[in-house]
Amino acid sequence: MYDWIKAFHIIAVIAWMAGMLYLPRLFVYHCAAEKGSIQSETFKVMERRLLRAIINPAMIATWILGLWLAWLGPDSRYGWFASGWLEAKLVLVLALSALHGLLARWTKDFAADRNRHSQKFYRIIYEVPTILMIAIVILAVIKPF
Ligand code: HEM
Repeated sequence: MYDWIKAFHIIAVIAWMAGMLYLPRLFVYHCAAEKGSIQSETFKVMERRLLRAIINPAMIATWILGLWLAWLGPDSRYGWFASGWLEAKLVLVLALSALHGLLARWTKDFAADRNRHSQKFYRIIYEVPTILMIAIVILAVIKPF
C-alpha cells in the first residue's frame, strides 16, 4: 500500500513540476507577443488550460499523497514528521506552493492584458522551481538528517 501511494506521489510530482517549469516559459514568449494579437490570445488559452487542467490538480494530489506518506512513516506515533529531512522538505515545498500562487496571479494578469513584468523577470523566475526541485528530491531520497 505504502509503495503504491509513493508511486502516485511521484507521478503527481512529475505533472506538477512539468507545469511549473513550462508556465514561466510561456510567460517569456507571451511578453514578446503584441496585446490583442492572435499569438497573445493563444498564449492566454494555453496558460489557463495548463494551470487548471494540470498544475492545480497535480499540486493538490502531491500534497494529499505526500502528507499521507508522512503520516504512515516509520514512527508509529509521528510517522515521518519527527524527521529533519521532512521538515526541511516541507519548508521548500511551501515555497514552491507560494510560487504556484504567484504564477496563478500572473496568468490572470496576462489574461486581462495587464502583465507588469519583463521578459527578463520571467527568465529569472523560470530557474526558481528547478532549484527548489533539486533540493527537494535530494532531501527526499538521501534524507541527510
Ligand atoms: C506536498 C508536500 C509533500 C510531502 C508532505 C511529501 C512527503 C513525502 C514522504 C513522506 C515521502 C516518503 C519517503 C520515503 O518513503 O522514503 C516522499 C517521497 C518522495 N517525495 Fe515527497 N512530499 C511532498 C512533495 C514533494 C515534491 C514537491 C517533490 C519533488 C519536487 C517530492 C519528491 C519526492 C520523491 C522523489 C520521493 C521518493 C523518495 C524515495 O523513495 O526515496 N515530494 N514524499
